[in-house]
Amino acid sequence: MTEYAHVPVLLNEVLEGLEIKPAGIYLDATFGRGGHSRAILERLGPQGRLYALDRDPEAVAAGQALEAEDPRFKIRHARFSQLKQECESLGILGKTDGILMDIGVSSPQLDDASRGFSFEHDGPLDMRMDPGAAPDAATIVNTWDRKALTAIFREYGEERFAAKAAAAIVRDREREPFKTTGQLAALLNRVIPGHEAHKNKATRCFQALRIAVNGELDELRAALEASAEVLSDGGRLCVITFHSLEDRIAKNFIKEASAGAQLPKGLPVTCEVTEKLRLATATLEPVGRIVKASAQELAVNARSRSATLRVARRLKRQ
Ligand SMILES: C[S@@+](CC[C@H](N)C(=O)[O-])C[C@H]1O[C@@H](n2cnc3c(N)ncnc32)[C@H](O)[C@@H]1O
Repeated sequence: MTEYAHVPVLLNEVLEGLEIKPAGIYLDATFGRGGHSRAILERLGPQGRLYALDRDPEAVAAGQALEAEDPRFKIRHARFSQLKQECESLGILGKTDGILMDIGVSSPQLDDASRGFSFEHDGPLDMRMDPGAAPDAATIVNTWDRKALTAIFREYGEERFAAKAAAAIVRDREREPFKTTGQLAALLNRVIPGHEAHKNKATRCFQALRIAVNGELDELRAALEASAEVLSDGGRLCVITFHSLEDRIAKNFIKEASAGAQLPKGLPVTCEVTEKLRLATATLEPVGRIVKASAQELAVNARSRSATLRVARRLKRQ
């Protein structure tokens, strides 16, 4: 197993957001290298329990080492879109006092060239968080048609020159299929116009490919949908996102979950009725404002720059 480190972001803010009770049950849906998990365990008493998931076998191996050290902790190799099923089989459905989702990739995934996430370290064009899953990035780059590549670069990468990038890929792969991150990054840097200070021009297309390979946005939507069923009344949900596409999903989900069911406009009903319906159907309410990294954290962890934490509370079931 590789020994790359990961510095947890917004650590104190997450611990505060989870409002940890020493005998509570918590779920870390994105174990990574366990920075947040270890800090949660430090605050739990002997009755407290922490369960964790990760889709990356290397993260799970790191979690198994922690499992051997601490009987209050258990990890499973699973995608967080399976949150409900996993919690059901662990017997913690509706009983979980806090869920953490620190989504995206970990530093070990980015820093290990052989995982193929990075345009900075040349490696196989892979990008799978779970190397046992399909497809990898090379399959997408070498087989998807121009239209489909343009769509993901535009939608998931918000790349202005999506069509240009996709056309260049389709043209070049005829000569030689793409095998490495370096090959793809070099092409993107050649064909995407302009110069961007401090930003590699391949950044947005790499983000798009990673999202497509791992189905990241659908994973997030599914996990958020399941969270209200998993949480106990008053339980806390903490979601850390790293770019606007993810944050928009988290923001809209919490907004809709706190609005509950809506009656069609124009019905002759009183405010009391609509409020009753809201209380009966709303599942979550936001706690505080969005949280960003402090100047202190930014000074020591550049990765925290793009992190946004949203916290919500499970409303009492009626
Ligand atoms: C930002 S890291 C988490 C870091 C962790 N909080 C720590 O302190 O070490 C994100 C982790 O979530 C995992 N992950 C991302 N999407 C996932 C999904 N859909 N299901 C399960 N794990 C996922 C990744 O494999 C990665 O290990």
